[in-house]
Amino acid sequence: MTDEEDADWIPAGADLSRPSAARIYDYLLGGAHNLEPDREVARRLQAIQPRVAGVARRNRAFLRRAVRYLLGQGVRQFLDLGSGIPTVGNVHEVAQEAAPEARVVYVDHEPVAVAHSVALLKDNPHAEALEADATDTEAVLKSEQVHRLLDLGRPVGLLAITLGHYLPEVRGVFAAYRDALAPGSYLALTHLTNDFAVLNDPRVAETMRSTQDHIYPRSRDEVLALFDGFELVEPGLTTSANWRPDRLAAVVDPEEDGLYAGIGVKV
Ligand SMILES: C[S@@+](CC[C@H](N)C(=O)[O-])C[C@H]1O[C@@H](n2cnc3c(N)ncnc32)[C@H](O)[C@@H]1O
Repeated sequence: MTDEEDADWIPAGADLSRPSAARIYDYLLGGAHNLEPDREVARRLQAIQPRVAGVARRNRAFLRRAVRYLLGQGVRQFLDLGSGIPTVGNVHEVAQEAAPEARVVYVDHEPVAVAHSVALLKDNPHAEALEADATDTEAVLKSEQVHRLLDLGRPVGLLAITLGHYLPEVRGVFAAYRDALAPGSYLALTHLTNDFAVLNDPRVAETMRSTQDHIYPRSRDEVLALFDGFELVEPGLTTSANWRPDRLAAVVDPEEDGLYAGIGVKV
């Protein structure tokens, strides 16, 4: 074990032998919870596409706007699937700043992400983290954390922000969550695609095959299908920076932007 692998943010027993999407993304966002193998993959991705860190930053900015939008619609409980390693503007921070009573359950299958979330949330009675595979919908929906914090009889904000493209089979998973949620619940997602120039390079998916998290980019129609049973809110499915940008100046050419983003309400 290297000194770095002995760091206090690494949970005992965590398998660090393969790089993870959570730690690669943390590195691309300028975080400190990553190891040399993760950074090595991130650098390979940057060599293929030097603007990949911009894609990550715009994704994170969409997450914050999505949470604020849902708060504006009266949503006070969030289920954040594939929540990642805590970084600037976490869901509970954005939500509880506007509504201190807002409740959040974070779900990730990566032990570093979950351990760090648990530590951050230890004094927060309204937010918890769960280590689970998001495709195990029963384990998530019947978890103690969901049971304690979320009332599934009332609208929930379901967040799947850069989750879907890690799942080989995705429609059934999203449908199972939809069926468990009350009408008036929302689905907010971003999803990697090859439809635009910035990430349209097969070497991106090839590079990720050396990690725990393989990727499956999808077309516009395939991403739209994930909103089955939801009505997309305006402006529909866009790319991440272009979904209700805070400032007109933030609008980005979709070819540069790279990720589909949208929010739908369960009808
Ligand atoms: C790129 S990060 C995104 C983090 C956060 N949602 C955001 O957008 O800022 C993707 C996260 O999805 C998680 N993930 C991938 N597949 C998953 C699965 N099957 N179940 C739970 N989490 C998963 C990874 O561990 C990683 O933390």
